[in-house]
Amino acid sequence: MSSAVRILDKEGKEINSVGFQRFGFDCEVPLDVLRSLYLRKHYVKTIASSSESVKDDEEDSAATAYLSKSIYHADTQSISYTTLSRFPPVKLLPPSSRKRVLVTGGAGFVGSHLVDRLMVLGHEVTVLDNFFTGSKTTVSHWVGHPNFEMVRHDVVEPFMIECDQIYHLACPASPPHYQYNAVKTIKTSFMGTLNMLGLAKRTKARFLITSTSEVYGDPEVHPQPEDYWGHVNPIGPRACYDEGKRVAETLTYGFHRQDGVDVRVARIFNTYGPRMNPFDGRVVSNFIVQALRGEDMTVYGDGKQTRSFQYIHDLIDGLIALMNSDETRPVNIGNGDEFTIAEFAELVRDIVEKVQREDGAEPKRVNIIYKPMPTDDPQKRRPDTTRAKEVLEWQPRWTVRMGLEEMVRYYKAKMEEGSI
Ligand SMILES: NC(=O)c1ccc[n+]([C@@H]2O[C@H](COP(=O)([O-])OP(=O)(O)OC[C@H]3O[C@@H](n4cnc5c(N)ncnc54)[C@H](O)[C@@H]3O)[C@@H](O)[C@H]2O)c1
Repeated sequence: MSSAVRILDKEGKEINSVGFQRFGFDCEVPLDVLRSLYLRKHYVKTIASSSESVKDDEEDSAATAYLSKSIYHADTQSISYTTLSRFPPVKLLPPSSRKRVLVTGGAGFVGSHLVDRLMVLGHEVTVLDNFFTGSKTTVSHWVGHPNFEMVRHDVVEPFMIECDQIYHLACPASPPHYQYNAVKTIKTSFMGTLNMLGLAKRTKARFLITSTSEVYGDPEVHPQPEDYWGHVNPIGPRACYDEGKRVAETLTYGFHRQDGVDVRVARIFNTYGPRMNPFDGRVVSNFIVQALRGEDMTVYGDGKQTRSFQYIHDLIDGLIALMNSDETRPVNIGNGDEFTIAEFAELVRDIVEKVQREDGAEPKRVNIIYKPMPTDDPQKRRPDTTRAKEVLEWQPRWTVRMGLEEMVRYYKAKMEEGSI
């Protein structure tokens, strides 16, 4: 039985594909091709282009998932990983359009979705990662593919490769991870970016860095446009990340002005989606995991602080659009729909109950509890995405509800598998 889920955008129109053709770069792919890489088969519609190649396999011709699975065996406390016998179909590009793309931090949450998109589009992708917060399992479905390479490397050390585009993502992104070793975080931001910019200079590759809304700190301006300089505490516990990204931006524009490196700066606002580390303390994954486990959901502070959340596919659309546009100024990429954290907790609780009911289980209503706010946690943050709209013709399409439903289905499956 297929229960392929329909995704409706903000105007109520069905989303069947993500990406677009713009700036001479085609990045449009069917949504179900991507979903086959992270959702269970029964949620994904059959992918026409793949059914041809699997006629010999009765079961697989009806199926569409290309997940390599991990299966936990409670009795022996062991885990088995399945490997793939075939890969999702990728576009056959002429060599003149095929790009050699380096993705640092490509085994992380954002990186793995970017890798999926670039691979399906037919490009050659090299992932550089030290696996500090990322995991090989996020991209294991591509290992062995002729267009894919994965290198264990710390960006703090120099690295040389011929490439056309560099997406520089490597950096822990959640407070517990970046605070775990603050000195290393700032080294990664500074030296990692220095090394990757040096590589871009030598190879004449175009360089995109994933900066963050944290460069605005605890802002005095709402929403935050790109020309707002920010309000950051330079010595607080978050400074290693916030100031690290600020100095990384400074370096990026230094190389641009001094050496003519072709740069792009994306300031990303809170993003969520499948493959986010469930235990890294970010609010979306915290709430979902707590609600799925039937535990109390923890809100830090009085819950009146607001946040905006964008779904991963919107972010990847924005990153690819920016990389292939002519815009060298920083560009905010985020979803402006603002929620108080308390409202958001209730929304997550409702969606978890809906998905549990869909799967035939009787949900248990969990409580929402309040704890003191950590130091320097910004009260309010919302992107002004006018620039992205004007120069990239980009705006978010996914509603928070639609994105959350996918993420809940993903986490629920992982929990049932035993890998969460
Ligand atoms: N997810 C968000 O909401 C968000 C918001 C703003 C900015 N960003 C930025 O996007 C990028 C990706 O974030 P994410 O959410 O995917 O985080 P993540 O922690 O899932 O991914 C980061 C990846 O970088 C790797 N890495 C860390 N230090 C490294 C080093 N020294 N050398 C090589 N690899 C290293 C990690 O192993 C991991 O795979 C980061 O630069 C982050 O600052 C993310």
